[in-house]
Amino acid sequence: MYSEKVMDHFQNPRNVGEIENASGVGTVGNAKCGDIMRMFLDIDENGVIREAKFKTFGCGAAVATSSMATELVKGKTIQEALQVTNKAVMEALDGLPPVKVHCSLLAEEAIHAALWDYAEKNHIVIEGLKKPKSDIHEGEEEEEY
Ligand code: FES
Repeated sequence: MYSEKVMDHFQNPRNVGEIENASGVGTVGNAKCGDIMRMFLDIDENGVIREAKFKTFGCGAAVATSSMATELVKGKTIQEALQVTNKAVMEALDGLPPVKVHCSLLAEEAIHAALWDYAEKNHIVIEGLKKPKSDIHEGEEEEEY
C-alpha cells in the first residue's frame, strides 16, 4: 500500500524538531482527522532556506510528507520553495494512497504558513503566496464540490 520511500520517511523521519528563533513558523491542522503539523524555517539574508524542521502530531503519511517536504525546501529560495506543492512531495515519495492525499496537503500548507509568518515578521510580501488556511479541512470540502 505504501511505497518504500514513504515507509522510510515514516520510520526514519528527517529534520524532526524545532528551530529556536526560527525565521518563520507555521502550524496547520485538519479538523477532520485531527492531525497537526508545525514547520520551522531558518531563512538567510538572501532569502535561502538554510534549515527546515518539523513536528507532526499525525498519521504516518503526515510524518512522511513533512519529512520529505523539509528535505525538499532545504537550500531552496523562497520562490523555489513555493513550487514544493503537495504533488511534488507525493511524487518525491513515489505516491500516496488516495485516502492519504490530504496528508500531503498539510505539508504544503505548513510550508506556506511558515513563509507567511516570515513575510509578516519582515514586513515583506512574497509574490504568489496566499494567506494559508489553519485548517486544511475547509479547503478540502471546497474542492469536493
Ligand atoms: Fe489526516 Fe493523515 S490522516 S493527515
